[in-house]
Amino acid sequence: MDLSTTYLGLHLPHPLMPGSSPLADDLDTVRRLEDAGAAAIVMRSLFEEQIVSDELATYDAHEVPSESYAEALSYLPEPSIFSLGTHEYLEQIQRIKDAVAIPVIASLNGTTPDNWIEYARLIAQAGADALELNVYDLPTDPRESGEDVERRVLDVVTTLREAVALPLAVKLSPFYSSLANLARKLELARADGLVIFNRFYQPDIDVESLEIVPRARLSNPTELLLRLRWLSILSGQTGMSLAVTGGVHNAVDAVKAVMAGAHAVQMVSVLLRRGPAALSRMRAELSRWLEEHGYDSLRQMQGSMSAGRGASPAALERVQYMRVLHSWRPEGDAPARRDS
Ligand SMILES: Cc1cc2nc3c(=O)[nH]c(=O)nc-3n(C[C@H](O)[C@H](O)[C@H](O)COP(=O)(O)O)c2cc1C
Repeated sequence: MDLSTTYLGLHLPHPLMPGSSPLADDLDTVRRLEDAGAAAIVMRSLFEEQIVSDELATYDAHEVPSESYAEALSYLPEPSIFSLGTHEYLEQIQRIKDAVAIPVIASLNGTTPDNWIEYARLIAQAGADALELNVYDLPTDPRESGEDVERRVLDVVTTLREAVALPLAVKLSPFYSSLANLARKLELARADGLVIFNRFYQPDIDVESLEIVPRARLSNPTELLLRLRWLSILSGQTGMSLAVTGGVHNAVDAVKAVMAGAHAVQMVSVLLRRGPAALSRMRAELSRWLEEHGYDSLRQMQGSMSAGRGASPAALERVQYMRVLHSWRPEGDAPARRDS
């Protein structure tokens, strides 16, 4: 079965790849992922805060006004939380490139169009095949409008685009007032792809210790639904590559994402839980599923459930919304007919 796809201009034998995570920290795991058939590998993020922190550390304390130095440092996490330092990150790109033949996608994570973006050049020089920009950000300033927030994202992308010619994907959250419009502007700013979506890590409260508890929870398949909806809405309206991340746990999840318009299917939780072999099983199941359902290739299925090509995706959304609300029946009743 021809599972080939093109993502960020990279011609891949199939769409399945590990998403940005610690999976690329260890070369042995990277090799096992390649052996399991991963089409590419996305590295964990290098954070703006790490780069800024490094830059600050190189300043002579006398040259920098001590107050601004102290203020900047108070917003920076302690370096020990990062498992790869800035230089180690570049070395890791080179090590992975030497160890495996699959494309390596590096990841930068930040929110300002400042000097740290220069690091993208070093990432390109280190041999990365593409770059994912994660703009994880929770706008909390009541003076900042939705347009301001989106302009910030665009500024980062524009600055990054000027810095490097690497294929560039932007990993977004779903929480923008007009996601389709932002996607269009990102395409005009020459982003090559979108990664849909960031998960927001929502810290819990420990009511006994009165502490905030940050905990990285692995995903569950229900998280895929939001991604499917937006892949489907965006896929008919953009020429950018689309990757799904969040809630893909088996081959049928991947089928759904591709039908909705994904060119690449990223997975983290399932690979952290089950190991690299889960990827080869999924690839085999994906192939079998397509054969059993009469497809000649993955491309034939790609975007077949896109909502963006029709006259009005917004009107379709309203129709689906009304259908869902009216499909509910008390437990035990016969399920609602689709056309009811
Ligand atoms: C332990 C862990 C570390 C992660 N680190 C990063 C990261 O550095 N950068 C990033 O963009 N996403 C990171 N992610 C998010 C994943 O790339 C992915 O978007 C998310 O886990 C949803 O996909 P999944 O349902 O397949 O797990 C991380 C996820 C986990 C579980």
